[in-house]
Amino acid sequence: MKQPTVKDSTGISFTALYTGAVWHRYGLSDDILATDQGRWLYHLMTPFEAASKAIVGGNIRTFLLQRHLIIDHLIEQAIERGVTQVLEIACGMSPRGLRLRQQHPQIHMAEADLPDMASRKAARLMISGHLGPNHQVMPIDILAEDGDRSLETVIDRTFDNREPVIVITEGLTSYFSLETMTVFWQRLASKLSERPGAVYLAESYFMPKQALLSGTLKSLGGLLGSVTRSDVSFHFQNDTQAHDHMVQCGFPSVTVHNPRDFYGTLPIPESRRDPMIRIIESRS
Ligand SMILES: C[S@@+](CC[C@H](N)C(=O)[O-])C[C@H]1O[C@@H](n2cnc3c(N)ncnc32)[C@H](O)[C@@H]1O
Repeated sequence: MKQPTVKDSTGISFTALYTGAVWHRYGLSDDILATDQGRWLYHLMTPFEAASKAIVGGNIRTFLLQRHLIIDHLIEQAIERGVTQVLEIACGMSPRGLRLRQQHPQIHMAEADLPDMASRKAARLMISGHLGPNHQVMPIDILAEDGDRSLETVIDRTFDNREPVIVITEGLTSYFSLETMTVFWQRLASKLSERPGAVYLAESYFMPKQALLSGTLKSLGGLLGSVTRSDVSFHFQNDTQAHDHMVQCGFPSVTVHNPRDFYGTLPIPESRRDPMIRIIESRS
């Protein structure tokens, strides 16, 4: 198995405070998950977000809302098919667990993140009385190949049956090289193959074709990579590449969703051009 280039990805964690503030600002979250640092980052980013919206017709908040609400929609579909177990990896301050438990009390919700972020989240959910046997928060590290925090151990320990599970990684995979993610996806596909009907949901970003835009994004990606000490990467260039790669990783059924297909159906913002984000739904 190839070793990942980044072994300590704790530098990424603060970004969850920004996305957490976006979920809160757009009415998707709860006060118990709002943080002062998130509010501060939200204000700091506002001028850049406004400029980007005006110039290119979309910004980070556009694709954050697109990805979050489309993932929610696909989770709902899986629940309608009868899946009742959910593992949200890299949960950060995502309010999804709270919402899912409110809307579907039969769900076993497990939220997982690196130890520090997991403790932070657990503390907030504990104080507000939300934690219990069917809503847990636990440490995980997608780079751990074995031990308590590895993907395999977390899944087996949390869902000690052979029933299907919905696994989500939102806002995680693009901080790692394709090589690193491929190892993780192969391990996940293998684990989920033991649970027919399981679903894995994640987003992916495509580099736009316009030279000016792609140049700017490459620079911003480089900056984000330095600040978070990670390998910020665009893994695929188009839907076919994304689809074929996930199939090669071991998922027999893969659908790549374009936010455009949900305009008018889901309350998501619309991008001026072809959206740069896709949601990949991979089934076992
Ligand atoms: C951009 S935030 C996304 C948080 C949340 N999913 C959301 O959309 O609001 C990235 C998250 O990935 C987590 N993370 C970073 N490295 C990780 C790893 N190796 N294993 C699991 N989670 C990790 C961070 O702690 C952080 O919470």
